[in-house]
Amino acid sequence: MKEINLTTKIAVYPLEECSETEKKLIETAKEATKKAYAPYSGFKVGAAVLLENGRIISGNNQENAAYPSGLCAERTTVFFANATHPDQKIEAIAIAAWHNGKFTDDVITPCGGCRQVLLETENRFHTPIKILMYGSEAVYVADSIKDLLPLSFGDEMLK
Ligand code: THU
Repeated sequence: MKEINLTTKIAVYPLEECSETEKKLIETAKEATKKAYAPYSGFKVGAAVLLENGRIISGNNQENAAYPSGLCAERTTVFFANATHPDQKIEAIAIAAWHNGKFTDDVITPCGGCRQVLLETENRFHTPIKILMYGSEAVYVADSIKDLLPLSFGDEMLK
């Protein structure tokens, strides 16, 4: 038997130490929580993606009375960006969540399904996507979705 140890590098920043572009992306994600449709969970998530041309596109979670028919903020936003700007690489995504009347203290991290979609997007554009996970106490930054999805299944397996 041998063991494989997988390591993940996450940078932890106070918001003030983020770059101006990152702060803007995070602010846009926070703003997007206000337009979330989350009547069932009350957990309002906002996401904002940065395209290679500098444009920022935002979105939020969209719930449904038939629960699985809803969609997370990250996928709503990435799919919208890819649907409207199919030739633009996505360079970064910021995520924020509003719950119980305030932004969460802990960082919000993407669910497994959204990680898989972010992986597909990285592979599609051959560009790592920086993930900015906002919490009011800190911002976690991963340089690529691959850091959040070890041993991932991607398109290369199908070749
Ligand atoms: N949600 C997101 O939009 N993104 C995440 O990263 C985690 C969860 C949504 C799904 C659902 O509408 C609500 O948050 C509660 O799970």
